[in-house]
Formats: sequence, C-alpha cells, structure tokens
Amino acid sequence: MLHLAAQVAVTTSVINPANDFEINATGTFNMLEGARKHLPNLKMFLYSSTNKVYGGLKDGELELKNERWGLSNCTNGIP
Ligand SMILES: NC(=O)c1ccc[n+]([C@@H]2O[C@H](COP(=O)([O-])OP(=O)(O)OC[C@H]3O[C@@H](n4cnc5c(N)ncnc54)[C@H](O)[C@@H]3O)[C@@H](O)[C@H]2O)c1
Repeated sequence: MLHLAAQVAVTTSVINPANDFEINATGTFNMLEGARKHLPNLKMFLYSSTNKVYGGLKDGELELKNERWGLSNCTNGIP
C-alpha cells in the first residue's frame, strides 16, 4: 500500500496547524489502522515523508546503480 495523501502546504499548516495534524498525523494513523484491521496479508505500507524529517542526508553515500540513484550505505531506506 502506498500512502501519499497529505496537506502539503507549509503556509496552510501555520494558519491551521490542527487541521494539518488531523490530515497528516491522524490521517496516516487511520490508514495504518485500516490496513491492520482489514488487510491482514498486506506485506508493505509505504509512506512518503519529507526532507524536513530526513534532513540533508549529509552522511548518505549516493551511488548510481542501474540508472537509479540510491544510498549505498542505506539500502533498505532511511531508518
Ligand atoms: N512533491 C514533492 O516534492 C514532495 C517532497 C517531499 C515530500 N512529499 C510528500 O509526498 C506526499 C505526496 O505529495 P504530492 O507532491 O503528491 O502532493 P499533492 O498535493 O499533489 O498530493 C497530495 C494529495 O493528498 C490529497 N489529500 C489532501 N487532504 C486529504 C484528505 N484529508 N484525505 C484524502 N486525501 C487528501 C490531495 O487531494 C492531493 O491529491 C506528501 O506526503 C508530501 O508531503 C512530496
């Protein structure tokens, strides 16, 4: 499952942080709960976050492999 729904505007989040939290945090929780309750065989839940969470990845070692960029020291994604 791929979860991409979000309130993405920073200015909107400043004007109405409760609405931002409801959509982004509670919305993600609801997706996870829905998946847990109704999709028992689900193998993977992918959520798209932001570099504001990951940071600049200064320690990441970028490498080009099979025409795709990846982090050679973090092959399973950002922990
Ligand atoms: N595009 C980027 O460069 C970028 C960078 C970093 C992170 N992200 C993240 O990737 C994800 C997707 O971003 P995007 O660029 O596709 O944005 P987008 O605005 O195109 O897509 C977000 C979608 O969420 C939907 N949505 C908003 N509130 C909702 C709600 N309450 N219920 C259901 N759907 C709702 C919107 O209608 C929209 O279709 C977001 O979590 C965003 O923070 C995107």
